[in-house]
Amino acid sequence: MALLLNRFPVFFRKVCELIRLTPRRNRVKEKWAATQPKHPPTRLALQHFDSSYGAQLGPLWPSVRVALLSERKYGALLNSFSHDLVLEDLQVQGCRDFISHQDRLVFGAEEGSCEVSMTSLEFLSQQQYPPQLSPHLKCFVFPRGDVTRFKPARPDRYGLLGYYLMDAASILPCLALDVQKGHTVLDLCAAPGGKTLALLQTQLIRYLCINDSSMSRTSRLRKVLHSYVPKQFLTDENLRITSFDGTMWGEMERETFDRVLVDVPCTTDRHSLTEDDNNIFSKSRTGERRRLPQLQLELLLAGIAAARPGGEIVYSTCTLSQNQNLSVVEQAVHFAQEKHGIQLQVSGTRGDGHLLQVDPDFNKHHILSLFLSFLPSGRQFEASRAEV
Ligand SMILES: C[S@@+](CC[C@H](N)C(=O)[O-])C[C@H]1O[C@@H](n2cnc3c(N)ncnc32)[C@H](O)[C@@H]1O
Repeated sequence: MALLLNRFPVFFRKVCELIRLTPRRNRVKEKWAATQPKHPPTRLALQHFDSSYGAQLGPLWPSVRVALLSERKYGALLNSFSHDLVLEDLQVQGCRDFISHQDRLVFGAEEGSCEVSMTSLEFLSQQQYPPQLSPHLKCFVFPRGDVTRFKPARPDRYGLLGYYLMDAASILPCLALDVQKGHTVLDLCAAPGGKTLALLQTQLIRYLCINDSSMSRTSRLRKVLHSYVPKQFLTDENLRITSFDGTMWGEMERETFDRVLVDVPCTTDRHSLTEDDNNIFSKSRTGERRRLPQLQLELLLAGIAAARPGGEIVYSTCTLSQNQNLSVVEQAVHFAQEKHGIQLQVSGTRGDGHLLQVDPDFNKHHILSLFLSFLPSGRQFEASRAEV
């Protein structure tokens, strides 16, 4: 302040004079109480979760609540297209790749486990059809309990960034999708592109169709792709980017894709509890929030219709809401069978401890996995889960 006063004495004198000359009654008083919403969306979200998840999760809810309100844990999705020695750099910082099995065991033994590896990856490997993981897919995390922030990724000599920061758990639906060499894949709600990028990292996909109904988010996704993937992988032969309403997809392209990722818009629980901006619990978005389960159902049905017989669909959200998870999947299974004669086997659900029953007359057309990419990073949540 003193420095500023010395450098701009005239300016400060003028400001002081102006204040003195302004009649007291005309001075603008800051009205915090009037401008701040009485019930900020974050508080409304917490009230909503307290009542709905309190009933849904029972004694688990207090620890889940703490976990949801704690610091988010990031993962660094390694860009296998980058030419820099990013992997070594991350290892020196004490991070480990939680996807590769060997690291998972070592990391778990030393650190009392990294939460991602011990919960969701084990869950995946226990599936009837455990996914075959591409060696190119690597996501680095700091040890359990360490929420150190990653440094911003730097461009290599070709301008490609070394890693993409995302919620570490967001990678799990991509693993569950179990992409194999030569597959055609549809990413129905793709922006801003974290999961698309993870899918491309596998280097297994023959043709990737990327869609998001939001034009602005799709253009952000395009920028992300250009910052991480060399041009030769972004040609019309390899990929298509569209901005259609995903609910209509089944009418445009039926029975086409080997794999379909339906990563739907949802109440994004952690975001809703921590950010007032663009919060789905704000009063002006109440209608949109109430319509979410219907939109999710329509998107999932479109994804099912777009998958070829024998293909697999992953439905993922980042909410714990049963109305947006289990209920949507149950309804989709019912409608797909009733209206389109598509039989589905549900291979697993996660997040609320329920497994859907497999149809005994299962006639393998599609496999549907419900997968919650939501994963609180708090220790309490995991401890409670272990008691289930
Ligand atoms: C959870 S986000 C997807 C996140 C993305 N998969 C990722 O990993 O970065 C949900 C997306 O669905 C999009 N969306 C909403 N309604 C849609 C619709 N009818 N059709 C297609 N996309 C839609 C939103 O614009 C939003 O980008």
